[in-house]
Amino acid sequence: MEVQLIDLPKIEDRRGNISVIEKECLPYEIKRVYYLYDVPSDAYRGGHAHKDQKEFLIALSGSFEVLLDNGVDKEIVMLNKPFQGLLILNGIWRELKNFSSGSVCLVLSSDVYIENDYIRNYNEFLNFVKS
Ligand code: TYD
Repeated sequence: MEVQLIDLPKIEDRRGNISVIEKECLPYEIKRVYYLYDVPSDAYRGGHAHKDQKEFLIALSGSFEVLLDNGVDKEIVMLNKPFQGLLILNGIWRELKNFSSGSVCLVLSSDVYIENDYIRNYNEFLNFVKS
């Protein structure tokens, strides 16, 4: 599976912790940052794959589950640590669910928003990974 859980540096301090993402951490240049927040616990997000874009997801606060699917295998990863991120390369179907209350999902993306880079239909995704 073209995904990887990456531990981020954590600078611990009684005044609060710091985690850092520097450019060497990711195999791409970050072109867009967005975040999901105020997500109801029964919400379902994602439900798509990217043709080219790569993304790095971090549960900045709270927790949620990410279902990952490469067209053959599926796995579920729980994100619940602000010092850990999930790298999802292109060609991976993802679904985000079971958001805890107050959770925030930060996404660092390899490109700006391009709707044409999305595959939002699961059968189309299966055809894409087979081709
Ligand atoms: P969508 O990709 O469906 O959200 P998710 O996959 O996280 O469930 O995006 C929801 C809407 O927001 C959709 O109309 C596209 C828009 N959007 C942007 O305009 N720019 C962005 O960077 C993102 C991520 C979404």
